[in-house]
Amino acid sequence: MTAVLSVLTNALGTVHAYSAAVRLGVLDRIDREPGTAAEVAQACGLNGHGTALLLASLETTGLVDRLPDGRYQPIVPGLAGLHPMLAMWDNLSDVVRNGNPVLNLDKPEQAASFYPQLVTALGAAHESTALHLAQNLPAANRVLDVGAGASPWSIALAARDRVCKVTAMDLPAVLNTTRRATNRAGVADQFDYLPGDVFEIDLPVAAYDLVLVAHVCHLFDPDTVGSLLGRLRPAVAPSGALTVVDIVPGGRAATLHELGLYLRTYGGADHPPDRYRRWLAADGFTVTEPVVLDSDPPMFVICAQASANPNRTGERP
Ligand SMILES: C[S@@+](CC[C@H](N)C(=O)[O-])C[C@H]1O[C@@H](n2cnc3c(N)ncnc32)[C@H](O)[C@@H]1O
Repeated sequence: MTAVLSVLTNALGTVHAYSAAVRLGVLDRIDREPGTAAEVAQACGLNGHGTALLLASLETTGLVDRLPDGRYQPIVPGLAGLHPMLAMWDNLSDVVRNGNPVLNLDKPEQAASFYPQLVTALGAAHESTALHLAQNLPAANRVLDVGAGASPWSIALAARDRVCKVTAMDLPAVLNTTRRATNRAGVADQFDYLPGDVFEIDLPVAAYDLVLVAHVCHLFDPDTVGSLLGRLRPAVAPSGALTVVDIVPGGRAATLHELGLYLRTYGGADHPPDRYRRWLAADGFTVTEPVVLDSDPPMFVICAQASANPNRTGERP
């Protein structure tokens, strides 16, 4: 019985503490500059005790850090930018009843209005996993980061290797956020930017040693992912590779992630790694075993190596 109450109180308390901290300007204040509870209460015109309780609760949820000097800061920059995602959960019962998502983030028009705010925090959340992955990927001088967002994965590659040049490809509305992220990371001189819809844009042929597709495929249904990977294939240089990073299906966090995809996309899902292997093999790649990264939720990486004479089966699995 106690466990039941804890599950609900933890979930509700986390969401409402986060939401209140965004609405009251608390998260923005400590994102600009870390502050004690008293400093934040004064800056935001709030009750001192309430602010102290709110910040202490956010710390217990892992959303906020308390520094040794007692000041608080968000666990990642731009954390308040995830707030627009909360409202869609109010519609969960309708979506489960009728099967129609409340948002279509798999369509570029809606993606363009949501992702500019979201990707800063998403990118920061991936930073340490991306740094780890970058140490384990082969050298690549020309990288295409597809649906780059705040480009955490390609920033890690650029920081690893100063001769690496990255083309960050995303919807035009998102690329200002991408630019801010590469500036902050001190790698802006290694980046250029390709605005467009990945399903429409003309990509240069055989131009990239590495095409990186991180946390993009789960937005789309299986047929669309198959055609997306096929579309990217000609951009890979003859001795280059395509790497997919995405979420391993199953487990608590991934199952809730998939419920969120059901709310915000038509056919988005955490597709199993084996399905990617079949898609990529059908495109003439030699595909490695998926590697599971140490992350929450767990993510996998699949590296697909192009061969000079792709043996295309022409059949989509
Ligand atoms: C979940 S975010 C992942 C961002 C980044 N790759 C990461 O791992 O943090 C999905 C990204 O795909 C981009 N995206 C969605 N649909 C797109 C499309 N049709 N063309 C180009 N980019 C798209 C979004 O704008 C967003 O930046």
